[in-house]
Formats: sequence, structure tokens, C-alpha cells
Amino acid sequence: MVCSAAPVLLLAMTLPLVGPPVARASQPGPSQAGGESGQQLDQASGAGESVLLSVYVQLVFSDGSWPAALSRPLPLPPASASPSPRTLTGLSLTTECNVKPDGFTYCACLSGYQWNASICSRHQLCQPAHNHRPCGCLAFSPPAAGYCQVLPPDPCLLPPCSPGQPEPETWLQMPGHTLNLTLLTSQETTNLSWFLRRHTGSPRPIPLRPGPQVSLTSSQGQAVLSIRNVSHEWEGEYVCCFEAQGFRWELYQVARVPLQATDVARLPDQLSISCATSPGFQLSCCIPYTPLGYMASWSPAEGSEASSFSTPGDRCLVLATQHCPAADITYTCDLQSPGLTPLRVPVSVTVIQDGDTTCPEDSAVVAWNVTKAGRVAQAPCPVNRTGRVKRTCGPDGTWGPIHSSCTDSRLLALLRRAQLLWAGQGWPAEEVPQSLAQLLEQTEVVSSPSDLLALLGTMTLLAKVVADTGTPLYRSALEALLKTTDKVLDMDTSSLWTPTQAQKPSAASDLLLAVETLAHSLCPQDHPFSFSLPNVQLQTQLLTPTLPADYRISFSTQPPLGTDSQTLTGPTGY
Ligand SMILES: *[C@@H]1O[C@H](CO)[C@@H](O)[C@H](O)[C@H]1NC(C)=O
Ligand SMILES: *[C@@H]1O[C@H](CO)[C@@H](O)[C@H](O)[C@H]1NC(C)=O
Ligand SMILES: *[C@@H]1O[C@H](CO)[C@@H](O)[C@H](O)[C@H]1NC(C)=O
Ligand SMILES: *[C@@H]1O[C@H](CO)[C@@H](O)[C@H](O)[C@H]1NC(C)=O
Ligand SMILES: *[C@@H]1O[C@H](CO)[C@@H](O)[C@H](O)[C@H]1NC(C)=O
Ligand SMILES: *[C@@H]1O[C@H](CO)[C@@H](O)[C@H](O)[C@H]1NC(C)=O
Repeated sequence: MVCSAAPVLLLAMTLPLVGPPVARASQPGPSQAGGESGQQLDQASGAGESVLLSVYVQLVFSDGSWPAALSRPLPLPPASASPSPRTLTGLSLTTECNVKPDGFTYCACLSGYQWNASICSRHQLCQPAHNHRPCGCLAFSPPAAGYCQVLPPDPCLLPPCSPGQPEPETWLQMPGHTLNLTLLTSQETTNLSWFLRRHTGSPRPIPLRPGPQVSLTSSQGQAVLSIRNVSHEWEGEYVCCFEAQGFRWELYQVARVPLQATDVARLPDQLSISCATSPGFQLSCCIPYTPLGYMASWSPAEGSEASSFSTPGDRCLVLATQHCPAADITYTCDLQSPGLTPLRVPVSVTVIQDGDTTCPEDSAVVAWNVTKAGRVAQAPCPVNRTGRVKRTCGPDGTWGPIHSSCTDSRLLALLRRAQLLWAGQGWPAEEVPQSLAQLLEQTEVVSSPSDLLALLGTMTLLAKVVADTGTPLYRSALEALLKTTDKVLDMDTSSLWTPTQAQKPSAASDLLLAVETLAHSLCPQDHPFSFSLPNVQLQTQLLTPTLPADYRISFSTQPPLGTDSQTLTGPTGY
């Protein structure tokens, strides 16, 4: 160990003492080594006969070189070897400090030691937070006297810390089940929070809070995190952060949630093929990105070519077959991950025989191939849209209407994010304003009823989150919401609103309710708030007990709209 730029090295030592039980564990021990002496910490080992006592010693090496002797197990000072009420049995380093050219002294704790919470809160961490040791290295300027202390016995996170059981390599949680993590502590814990570090999206840990899927409970000596109905979106590293016994702790558990059949997208999920008109066909099987490595394969694979591709959220395996099967056949997309039961999803291929009733080729919206009566023909969505286009071939061989579930992929991602936020993943104060700003940008891409439903669904969920958690919104977030509302109310009636309301009759009233809920959450200091766009006008006034009796507000609309009641918000128009 050579520290060229280090004129000063600090180190501290722990001396476990063995001897008859001492009356009080906190008795000061003798300072054995030279140099400037530090302070001491002590700890009962529980064995009754030996006491772990720490004596901190600061050694300064002015020439910056680290004596080789310190890299080896430290020899005991001869004095301690004599039979005496206290016998030193070991010496160990706890802290290593280096002065860097930036003027800071970086002090890192060696294994088993840590900066205590009070000193940790007053200094900067060497690396940004959420490295795996909560307070394993601090940067001091000017250098301060202080040493890493012996960590008390680990609090314990269940699983894996069940006594006598080895730590499992993967902690598997079956989809649909409840995941429980229990923190066991014998001491009082404070500042307890739970996070999930997912392997997709931002590497920042996502805070978890009580919601429809997440519950946090605590009782004497334990705190439990429960997540109901887990899916692969709850897979990742769970982090439990808290303070106990004067230290900051972070405990981890990696949970794996295998994919389920509903996570696998097949296109098509059934197929009928006319060998007379089609020489071959393509099948695709797509799974969301997950850190559990899945190997995908199609069977039977003979005579076909498989190729894979990725989209931002998915990985797909495509099977291209150049020949027509001799008879009806079921293809299977096999997804295998070590240690898991393989997931197999079938696609049935029906060969159209002479005499079968069929729907003819047709080119409405997409190119429909000859399809057997009673089967559903399926086509992919355009780029950046998720879902599929489906058309049923009726029993009499006539094409039914075209159904498209194609939805803008970014709108769907916002909807999914809002669903998870509502479930308990993330901080509303941070995410709701971000999502409202992104929704405003995405109003431009709304081109189908399913896009409009995704946008309205996102607004409704964000409103629920805000109402359930009592999150205040700032003026800028409310403005984004009102601008979005104005654009949504401007959307074409015949191509968007009418079919949307046919699918979901409450769509317009849900929108009004969401806007009203969100507007009610404006923070008190941002009142009164007044905002006017062609379709939306909002005026707010925080009502206090001293409200003038003649309070009135009116909106410049045709017909005129006004109120003197307590309800002062409400978009107009549509
Ligand atoms: C934390 O560490 C500092 C410096 O080493 C020390 O002065 C202080 O007494 C310690 N606090 C506790 C609660 O151990
Ligand atoms: C998690 O806890 C809930 C209720 O506390 C219980 O019903 C469920 O069985 C537990 N799940 C597992 C996997 O232990
Ligand atoms: C822990 O909680 C106390 C009191 O609520 C607070 O002052 C302190 O800043 C918190 N510490 C951390 C690391 O969040
Ligand atoms: C569980 O979650 C899935 C989505 O992952 C959802 O489709 C299903 O309805 C949920 N079940 C319950 C009982 O909430
Ligand atoms: C129709 O058949 C062609 C050639 O086999 C194929 O590329 C296309 O995807 C099929 N169209 C539909 C809607 O299935
Ligand atoms: C699809 O999305 C990407 C990324 O957002 C964008 O660059 C591209 O222009 C989009 N393509 C179409 C056809 O909209």
C-alpha cells in the first residue's frame, strides 16, 4: 500500500480483550501505541468472559509511505501478553485516510467498521449516496479527528437471514403472490425507508410508500414491507435504510419475479394460412426486458429461421417459415431461465383446406390474407405504437369490423408509470409534476381513441394519487394540466371523442373529475390562481373563515357561468 500524495495517514485499532468479566464494559482501556491518542468505544461481546474494547490510535506518517508491517496481521504489544486481568488478543486497523490533491482527507472504514450516524450527517460522503456501504467513507476538510467504529451485530432482513439457512442466490417470488420483507432489530430504529432499485430505467432507487399494492407495518422489534400481487415490474433489489444503535444501515435483498404467460406478447396468437396463396408465415414472441436471463426458442424450428430484435422495452424472437405446413400444427415459444420452470406459450396454425369457408384477401387498413371462417386475423401496429390490429372472419366467410388496440408507446409508458405510482412505487411530489409535463408534450401524438383513453387514464390515476397522498401541486404543474385539458377538449369529436365515449361512457366526466381533483391540490401559497385558455378557465380562491359574505366569482363564458358556492373550480367547454 503506497499513498504517494498522502502526507498524513490516520488509523485506528480495535483491541479485543479477554479476561475475567469486567464490571462495566465502558471502562477505558490503556492506550498501548504511541502517537496522538484518540477516543475509545467499547462493546460487550455477549460471551461474558471477553470484552471487545476499542482504543483508537492515530499514526501520522509524514513521508507519505505506508509501512509494510501494517499490511500484515498486527503483532500484539509485548506488555499485553502478560497474564493480567485484561489480555489483548488482537489489533486491527479500522480507518485509512488519504489526503488527496483537492485538499480533502478521504477516510474509508475497513471491513466491519463504519462512521457513526452523527459524524456521518455532518460530513460529505466520498461517493454519492447509495453506494453499498451507507457510511463507509467520508471526506473531511479540514481533517477532523475521528475514527470508524466497530459495527454492532447486524440487524437482520428476512429473508435471507433466517438462522442456519444459507443466503439463497435468488429469492424467487411467484407472480401474483405477496412479497414480504421483514426487518428484525433488537434496538429502536429511526428514519426507516424502503426502496426498490429496478434494472430498467433510471438506476436511482425508487422509494416505496403505502398504496394499493404496498403496505408498511411495524411492531415491536420488526418492520414489514409487503407487496401484493407482484409482477416482473416489482423485481429488483430491495433496499431498507434506517438508523439504529447510532449507525446508518442499508440492507439489501434481490427479488426475482419470473415472467408469466400474460407478459409474453405473441403476434399473431393464432393463424390460419392458405397454402395456395401464402408460401410461408412469421410468428413473433416478445418479452419485456428482465434481468432474469431468458433464452427464447421456437419449436418446431426445422425448416424455419429464427431471428431476434429489441425495442426499448421488449426483446422479440421471430420465426420465419418459408414452407406451408402439411397439416394443422401448434408452434410453441419456449422461454427458459436457469432454475425456473420453462414458460411455454402456444400459437396454433390452421391450414386452410379445399372446401373450407374463408374470408378473401382484403386491403382495408392493412393487407388481410385469406383467413378461415371463425378465426381472427392479426396484424402488427405501426412503428412506435403498441398493440395489434385484429379482424374476425365471420362464420359465413365475411370480414367483420377492424379493431385496433394500437396505442402510442410513450402514452402507454406514462400510463404504466402512473399505475405503478398509484400502486406505491415512487414519490408523488416528484413524479406527478413530471408526468403532467410529459402528458402535455404527448397530447400531440394522440391519434386514436386508445391514445385518448391512455391519456385520460393517466390523468385519472395521477389525480387519485394526489388525492390519496395529499400531495400539493405547484402552479407550474397545474398549468401543464390545464394546457393538456384545453388540448384534449379541442380534440376531434367524430374521430376521437365519440368512439372514446362509446368505449368508456364515463371518459368525459372522469376527465372533469381528475381536473377538479388536481386543481384542488394547488398549494396554499399559489392561491389565488387564475388561468384562462379557450376551453378551460380556472380561478381559485383559498377560502378562509374570514371570507367576505358577498364573495362571488364569474367566468366570461357563453352562457355565463358563475359561482358563489364553495366549489370554485371547473373547466368549461366540450
Ligand atoms: C461518533 O463519532 C464521533 C467521532 O469519532 C465521536 O466523537 C462521537 O462520540 C460518536 N458518537 C457516538 C454516538 O458514538
Ligand atoms: C406475506 O404476508 C401476508 C400477510 O402478512 C401473508 O398472507 C402471505 O402469505 C405472506 N407471503 C409469503 C410469501 O410469505
Ligand atoms: C433522521 O430523522 C431525524 C428526525 O426526523 C432527522 O433530523 C434526520 O435528518 C434524519 N436523518 C436522515 C439521514 O435522514
Ligand atoms: C394482479 O396484477 C395483474 C397485473 O400484473 C393484474 O392484471 C391483476 O388484475 C391483478 N390481480 C389482482 C387480484 O389485483
Ligand atoms: C399476409 O401474408 C404475408 C406473406 O405471408 C405476410 O407477410 C403478412 O404479414 C400477412 N398479413 C397479415 C395481416 O397477417
Ligand atoms: C419513433 O420513436 C422514435 C423515438 O422516440 C423517433 O425518433 C421516431 O421518429 C419515431 N418514428 C415515428 C415513425 O414516429
